Amino acid sequence: MSSIQWFPGHMTKARRQIQEKLKLIDLAIELLDARIPFSSRNPMIDEILLGKPRLIILNKSDLADPRTTEQWMDQFKREGHVSIAVDSSTGTKVNQIPVLAKEVLHDKIARQIAKGIKPRAVRGLIVGIPNVGKSTLINRLAGRSIAATGDRPGVTKGQQWIKVGTEMELLDTPGILWPKFEDQLVGYRLAMTGAIKEQILNVEDIAFFAMKELSQRYWDTIAGRYELEVPPPSDMDDPDEIVRIMEAIGRKRGCLISGGRVDLEKASGVILRDLRSGKLGRITLEAPEFA
Ligand code: G4P
Repeated sequence: MSSIQWFPGHMTKARRQIQEKLKLIDLAIELLDARIPFSSRNPMIDEILLGKPRLIILNKSDLADPRTTEQWMDQFKREGHVSIAVDSSTGTKVNQIPVLAKEVLHDKIARQIAKGIKPRAVRGLIVGIPNVGKSTLINRLAGRSIAATGDRPGVTKGQQWIKVGTEMELLDTPGILWPKFEDQLVGYRLAMTGAIKEQILNVEDIAFFAMKELSQRYWDTIAGRYELEVPPPSDMDDPDEIVRIMEAIGRKRGCLISGGRVDLEKASGVILRDLRSGKLGRITLEAPEFA
């Protein structure tokens, strides 16, 4: 799924598929990667959702810097959106999602109650770019109570709904969006976090880019993690300085070839694996001012 090549035709189709489902739901649940909320966001999301109420989820928050995650939630609040940070892999905070979905739809629900209508379960659709964690979240929300509730009035025949407790239902297939990959910076950040696989971008290039970003924002973290005894890059725009750090890491991790030289490709693999798995600590690559 992550190596989908997005062409204009695919984007049109993906957009149409989501817009067909919008008729069935009360709100969209937009999933972002908490480490790269800007780069993991679809550039046309406002137009695609056609004004449908939205709940923003910062997923993979277990891997992200908690202070920056707070800043992002403040930013979304300023933009008028309700948001929450979750970890779908363990389920942390996931049980808040139905509560917040009702908060997003508060006015609509209040109007129904005022008219004497008993509000039914809130219906949602999860949307997001490949690898952001849509399936993991759906499975987590479904829990053991996974139950198809299709074939009812107002529900497309054959469309499967997943019950999330008694107050929420989810369409069982998520809406797949495309990232802003035409922006090179965005492409590298998606690759660093593993959303784009290495066959598209070269592993050494991705690790070089990662090292540059990490040296700027998280030098102490990486120096501590790899027990580096070298100074930080003196000039972040000097490629030799970044490669010097990559080599120092490679040496520490025993990525050597004959003659004692560092195997940069192997070192790159180590750096990216450590970054993606959270071994370097909780790292966020984009703060709200970037957006
Ligand atoms: P998608 O449907 O949006 O394409 O994403 P999916 O659920 O398949 O999740 C992609 C990867 O992200 C999975 O790793 C999944 O376990 C991981 N993931 C999802 N949510 C979280 C989270 O909140 N925290 C963390 N740490 N990881 C999360 P994977 O199975 O190892 O896939 P891959 O790495 O081989 O792509």
